[in-house]
Amino acid sequence: MKYLKILVILLFIVNNQVIGQENKLTKEERLEWFEDAKLGIFIHWGYYGVKGIGESWSMYHKQISYEDYMSQGNDFTAKNYNPETWAKLFKKVGARYAVLTTKHHDGVALWDTKLSKLNVKEKTQAKRDLVQPFVNALRNEGLKVGLYYSLCDWSHPDYDVVFPRPNTKKDYPQIGQKNLSKWQRFVKFYKGQLKELSDAYQPDLYWFDGDWEKSAEEWRAESLKDSLLAWNPKTIVNSRLKTYGDYSTPEQGIPIVRPTGSWEFCITMNDSWGYYPTDTNYKPISQIIRTFVEVIASGGNLLLNIGPKPDGTFAKEQEERLEALGEWIHKHDKAVFGTKAGLPYGHFYGPTLLSKDETKIYLCLFDTPNNYISLKGIQNKIKKIKIVGSDQQLGFERNGGAVWNNIPGTLRIEIPKKENLDSNVTVIEVELENQLKLYRGHGNAVELN
Ligand code: GLC
Repeated sequence: MKYLKILVILLFIVNNQVIGQENKLTKEERLEWFEDAKLGIFIHWGYYGVKGIGESWSMYHKQISYEDYMSQGNDFTAKNYNPETWAKLFKKVGARYAVLTTKHHDGVALWDTKLSKLNVKEKTQAKRDLVQPFVNALRNEGLKVGLYYSLCDWSHPDYDVVFPRPNTKKDYPQIGQKNLSKWQRFVKFYKGQLKELSDAYQPDLYWFDGDWEKSAEEWRAESLKDSLLAWNPKTIVNSRLKTYGDYSTPEQGIPIVRPTGSWEFCITMNDSWGYYPTDTNYKPISQIIRTFVEVIASGGNLLLNIGPKPDGTFAKEQEERLEALGEWIHKHDKAVFGTKAGLPYGHFYGPTLLSKDETKIYLCLFDTPNNYISLKGIQNKIKKIKIVGSDQQLGFERNGGAVWNNIPGTLRIEIPKKENLDSNVTVIEVELENQLKLYRGHGNAVELN
């Protein structure tokens, strides 16, 4: 009887594993929502906003002592934190996901982790888990949840740092585990924190950072990725888990050459990730909108950063920029959502987008055009051309080429009336009679005339 029971249990386990394997989602399936997301909001919220200094790095660069940096916790209040307002604003702007720093390199956790006392519940006037309400609010608005987690922890006594640091052992209960080496204990620690995040919030996306400090082997990157997927099979991971990420994560400098595969570009509105009131070097709204257009025209998502104040409210410059981007997106939503990366180089001087069925090309004008707008190498017959967000249709003519030799000429499109130009980026919709057919040759003699 006993053996029969064991056999039944074994069969159950094997069977479950087989089913588990079959049900495993491919990377493409996991990335499906992300591919269409276009806009995410990055949120760097932490102690550093109290003094308005660099996030974690101010300690690293010895601009502030460890003790003074950590004393910022006394004034981290979250007293006006209203994640429902955040989520409503993000949704209104047109974002499909948001990513919150649950733990930056400084080691301070925004949730009530059981693995370190260095968390906002124990150390600050906030006295509560700040991640759960964020997750709930995003999900209530139908937004995907991204959790940023820095692999390095510059407070953990088992993690060596380059700046002077007092003894922090009392904040890390696992230090008693003497049978493990320092590094083994650290691995167990961060894996434990990630398990807490996975169990409690089931994030749709993990946004790792700091992977450059150690090798893939040291981070146990491969097995960590396996564990993340075992805990949370639909999740996706950014590229800062060495080579085990699902999509790439360029930052601050917009890619010049179109990246391959799925990608997301993250950028600050001024020069700082966290709340830094003396940094007033804000990018103008038009630059933020242009950047967004350039990113989606190259098939990526923009992860636009904000740094909330320690009380949980936003700086007015940041809110204003979110609102303005939102207005532009709203006006041009058919060119933003339901589109994909545009034409390859050479057809149009500026970013373009393509409807998913490739029957519409969206031309994005950054500047006021002169004389006419030209589009080259389009084999298709054109049905109609109009300005997105306005009723004006534009006349067009085709000039040159040798259609009988499949060499299309230049399409000359009438320029919009001044009042129909958008003050940031004007989008022209070129509707084709059928699916896009491009001429990509370098020209040849026309042998028959
Ligand atoms: C860099 C910085 C970090 C910031 C991150 C956002 O990796 O180290 O402070 O959070 O960029 O992408």
